[in-house]
Amino acid sequence: MIQIAPSLLSADFSRLADAAHMVEKAGADLIHVDVMDGHFVPMLTFGPAHVAALKKVTALPLDVHLMVDNPSAMIPLFAEAGADWISIHVEAAPHLHRDVSAIRRAGRKAGVVLNPATPLTALEAILPDADFVLLMSVNPGRGSQPFIEASHERIRLLRRRIEERGLRTLVEIDGGVNLKNFERLCEDGAQVFVAGNAVFGSPDPAGVIRTMRDIAARKERR
Ligand code: DX5
Ligand code: ZN
Repeated sequence: MIQIAPSLLSADFSRLADAAHMVEKAGADLIHVDVMDGHFVPMLTFGPAHVAALKKVTALPLDVHLMVDNPSAMIPLFAEAGADWISIHVEAAPHLHRDVSAIRRAGRKAGVVLNPATPLTALEAILPDADFVLLMSVNPGRGSQPFIEASHERIRLLRRRIEERGLRTLVEIDGGVNLKNFERLCEDGAQVFVAGNAVFGSPDPAGVIRTMRDIAARKERR
């Protein structure tokens, strides 16, 4: 089952509720919220107050991607604010197992994020405890960057490893996803698709989501 998660990073920040309504109506499954702290990545974006506000205006689950140093301190704040999925970077989390456990104890789905150059072997020990893995297909920090081609192979290897181990961990892909590479990413085995610029940079954002839905439905039928 393929899930589409438009990223609000590329939406109009003065009209986030409108963006949430639009993607919900167009058939998105999740709303991706990119949290940047000005340390792990240079930019500052959303905080728990934004998540709490969004929670009031949409029924879609909020997929909160924490690009922050010291995620341990942030997890309770975002869980409390209403984040449904919370993902943390292995590069920022020396106590990864403890953090993943904290997310799950809070009743949220726990995700582990890998930067493009972080080896997949970093996941070996944590994989059974994670609900999903988010593979970055750009360097984190901003939207509208080109997709890093080596990510195709990483998705395939990761899916194979998850299947070998008999796990149900989902694979999410984030960065440079668009209508050109969407079909191939489905074939690679990605299950959750983040799309920022491809959706909000389009003159017809709802149309892009619907087209992704159609491609996914075609792939799922096979
Ligand atoms: C990048 C963020 C992404 C970003 C993707 O640091 O994690 O979620 O919004 O944007 P696009 O789809 O434009 O690459
Ligand atoms: Zn993201």
